[in-house]
Amino acid sequence: MIRTLTAADAASYRDLRLQALRLEPLAFSASAEEEGAEPLSFFAGRLGENACFGAFYAEALIGFVGLRRLGRAKTRHRGEIWGMYVAEDHRGSGVARDLLEFVVESAGDLRQLELNVVADNGRAVRFYQGCGFVRTGVVPRAALVDGRYHDELVMVRDMH
Ligand SMILES: CC(C)(COP(=O)(O)OP(=O)(O)OC[C@H]1O[C@@H](n2cnc3c(N)ncnc32)[C@H](O)[C@@H]1OP(=O)(O)O)[C@@H](O)C(=O)NCCC(=O)NCCS
Repeated sequence: MIRTLTAADAASYRDLRLQALRLEPLAFSASAEEEGAEPLSFFAGRLGENACFGAFYAEALIGFVGLRRLGRAKTRHRGEIWGMYVAEDHRGSGVARDLLEFVVESAGDLRQLELNVVADNGRAVRFYQGCGFVRTGVVPRAALVDGRYHDELVMVRDMH
């Protein structure tokens, strides 16, 4: 089951989000230390302000993804996908694709969806390609993790 997360989901969102940051430090620009120090209201506020979608299995949150519309008049046709995660036990099950298709269906009049993904994250890159995203650029040294720089790929899905 996939639905929009609200502030009422803050506790389960926080638990899965911190698991994601702890287990997959390369995949996210935030760190577990940074967000682990935040109160529950921080996570509730994020869910209140942003479109964030969650996948549930047996009533437990097992994955999520965010969609942010860029705010300026000249960029409002662009949507940014952020914070995509599926718990390890549920990878390869199609849940990730269902989540992303839910985002696509929620995209309304957005002209394109964009995301950044660490170039070394082969599984995620392959997954996004399978969902219609194409690589359009590279940000060199986008993230510094444990003393090592990692490039990020810019990927775009044209919605027309
Ligand atoms: C990225 C993520 C959401 C994808 O969900 P998933 O359930 O793993 O995705 P799928 O299994 O449906 O698809 C993965 C694809 O990569 C392939 N793959 C699996 N392991 C791989 C690897 N080590 N290297 C390259 N490709 C790999 C799979 O075969 C599949 O391709 P296919 O559909 O052409 O067969 C999930 O892996 C995840 O949460 N990863 C950790 C967090 C993360 O990286 N988030 C993305 C941040 S940008």
